[in-house]
Amino acid sequence: MKIGRNISLTGRNTFGMKVSCACLVEYDSPEEYRELLSSEVFHTLPLPFLHIGGGSNLLFTADFPGTVFHSRIDFLKEVSRDGDSVRIEAGAGTLWDKVCLYCAENGLWGTENLSGIPGETGAAAVQNIGAYGAEIKDVVESVVCFDSVTEGMKSISGEDCRYDYRTSMFKEGAKGRYAVMSVVLRLSAVPKPKLGYGHLKAAVDALTDGAEPEPMTVRKAVLGIRNAKLPDPAVTGNAGSFFKNPVVPRSSYEVVENYALSLYGSDYIVPHFDAGAGFVKIPAAWLIEQCGWKGYREGNVGVYEKQPLVIINATGNAVPGEILSLEKKITESVINTFGIELTPEVEHI
Ligand code: EPU
Repeated sequence: MKIGRNISLTGRNTFGMKVSCACLVEYDSPEEYRELLSSEVFHTLPLPFLHIGGGSNLLFTADFPGTVFHSRIDFLKEVSRDGDSVRIEAGAGTLWDKVCLYCAENGLWGTENLSGIPGETGAAAVQNIGAYGAEIKDVVESVVCFDSVTEGMKSISGEDCRYDYRTSMFKEGAKGRYAVMSVVLRLSAVPKPKLGYGHLKAAVDALTDGAEPEPMTVRKAVLGIRNAKLPDPAVTGNAGSFFKNPVVPRSSYEVVENYALSLYGSDYIVPHFDAGAGFVKIPAAWLIEQCGWKGYREGNVGVYEKQPLVIINATGNAVPGEILSLEKKITESVINTFGIELTPEVEHI
């Protein structure tokens, strides 16, 4: 266990915000976490409390006045095998992509589309990470947590996590109650490729010459697409998609369609996906690009030139105010042009 006061968070958020916290606690096991909570020291820790993983989906808007908790519980093991169904367990502090690599190397299906997503496994399960037609919720068997109300460990089934698009009850409803210690995933030893998203099948076919892929092949195709489209946070500060893809009533979508019709003619099809019950999901990247932001630069910040859904710390010297100001301008322009309000995907602290 490590407890430090006035600690820099610069290396702990992929946006590269140069902020600090009043206190940082890092624990290495559920037992250490439990001991801390029943110790004298616990009552001296400044409030509020915040649990972080790899800091890959956070925007610190200022120095954090309270205590940041970080799990260093790092392990990965197979826990059971029942026919073709294989369960593995990973510590909350295990790098998510280490889990994806392990699965691919061991011929296990279920995480390959989620390869290359930065961050740690606990946070991945809290925010229901997703990419290329898959979400972690599809493979979460259970999330093992410390419950601050009962002061005991609790295994919460994937179903009870109330997963939805980039959210779960850990973010809404039961926020702050549970600290994730590990995650149990249910994978398949028989082929279950999910290649329906965009150009993924073409990218996989190019690697296999049309033969049946292994999970490792899908992983390689996904990493190839990601590397071509998304900035590497180790090089350019960013937190992935800054906004969620908005889900709007069909009447709002028709406003967007009319806009496109007047500009591009009747052959043009606005990218969109049916979201059920009269709702439509429109890629925020498209809306932002239409408003002219793709590749935009202002001071130390900008909009990534290959994926306008990503706001970047272009020089490495951005301060939170610059990101917030650009976020506001983008949001306002999308409302003014399309009447659609974008909501951030990145959690603002
Ligand atoms: N598009 C544009 N211009 C661009 C790029 C994209 O108009 O420059 C439009 C295209 O129509 C494209 C569509 O946006 O078909 C979707 O683009 P893409 O497939 O790149 O995905 P996305 O919707 O922008 C989502 C996730 C990503 C995930 C990708 C791939 C959200 C908020 N983002 O992005 O997740 O990697 O799909 O599955 O759902 C993240 O959460 O941080 C993240 C990167």
